Amino acid sequence: MKLNIYKVKKISGTINIPGDKSVSHRSLILGSIARGEMIIENFLFSDDCLRTLECLRNLGVEIQITENNLVRIKGKGLHGLREPKIVLDVGNSGTTIRLLAGLLSGQQFYSVLDGDSSIKKRPMKRIVEPLRLMGAQIFGREDSNFAPLSINGSQISAISYSMPVASAQVKSAIMLAGLFAAGETVINEPLCSRDHTERMLGVLQADIEVNPFEIKIRGGKELQNTDIIIPGDISSAAYFIAAASVLKGSDILIKSVGINPTRTGILEILKKMGAKIDILNYKIISNEPQADLRIKYSELKGMEIGKEIIPSIIDELPLLAVVATQAKGKTVIKGAGELRVKETDRIKAIVDELKKMNADIIERADGFIINGPTTLHGGVFSSHNDHRIAMSLSIAGLLAQNQSIIENSECINISFPGFEQVLQYLIE
Ligand code: S3P
Repeated sequence: MKLNIYKVKKISGTINIPGDKSVSHRSLILGSIARGEMIIENFLFSDDCLRTLECLRNLGVEIQITENNLVRIKGKGLHGLREPKIVLDVGNSGTTIRLLAGLLSGQQFYSVLDGDSSIKKRPMKRIVEPLRLMGAQIFGREDSNFAPLSINGSQISAISYSMPVASAQVKSAIMLAGLFAAGETVINEPLCSRDHTERMLGVLQADIEVNPFEIKIRGGKELQNTDIIIPGDISSAAYFIAAASVLKGSDILIKSVGINPTRTGILEILKKMGAKIDILNYKIISNEPQADLRIKYSELKGMEIGKEIIPSIIDELPLLAVVATQAKGKTVIKGAGELRVKETDRIKAIVDELKKMNADIIERADGFIINGPTTLHGGVFSSHNDHRIAMSLSIAGLLAQNQSIIENSECINISFPGFEQVLQYLIE
């Protein structure tokens, strides 16, 4: 599939954004191993989340999708999953493979996790190491660094673990295994990564204590299901927040967006660059903060972005590169080496494509440097089969002279089915 994008003057209107991807994955996984029924509202029906759903069905969990798009899970309790008869296929989803590896390490049966060609290249040692310390029997290709991963169920023990990288996927894998350990698992993070697992575990009455940079979780306690309402995904909203900030005359309202502080780096940075973003109707639903966001065009200036804020803006960095091409002065992004091990090498991908558009952008080992403002040029661009690259380039296309064609744009369905329609609505 190809996405054709043309230069526009401005965007305007009021929109809703599909449910948060990270929270959708967690609601399925935790709902499956809690007792009782969970009904999920505003679940994200994207390719990644549907992989998690299918894997859990293959582990014996009954999950229904109702006519009005609610997801109903009959929780099995901590020890109710059954051995899958087939290889669990995670597709392109890093969250699915890493979180399920943690969950499956604590089961008493054999399972295999595999995915597409991108997943097979992504580092798994980061979960294999701590899970083995907990007693898991988990193996993979090339000294257990790559999928497929095979797991022989075993008895899990509690550990104290200091994570070398701030990663919510690693942290969540350890917490999920920790639910099956006797005793207290303690996890320390170098920087705060997204905390959706901790928040939902709290809602489901796990024995968990959360402090800055440290989580303590005691295993063996059954979780209790309750209904969950998922906020709109700020990582999806970010494309329109960015577009409205750089297109003169724009004024948009995005309803019910998740503004969990571990995810709002994009709002903080854009505001520092000079963006006009108002946060309205703040509320907490299912232990997750959400609000309506009103964004109006404003002149932006470049800035330096250092490693502390990177975890809370990790998925928005390619988009920020696009924004920086329109900001006055220099934008420097450092400490973002993790981008190289996402669905694709996102540093190389965005630098290569933005260069084709005439941006003044320099690749660094752990980020990039951009000088703005520049007039972008249209052309034919590659998504690198990465949803975040495809959507970031689409926003660049709104600014570029002539037509921009984004090739292999079907990957957008990984996180945001309906992206093109929402964009079209804001343009008209
Ligand atoms: C995610 C965590 C982040 C993020 C990914 C989703 C999650 O990855 O990039 O899109 O749902 O836990 P890391 O945990 O590897 O930083």
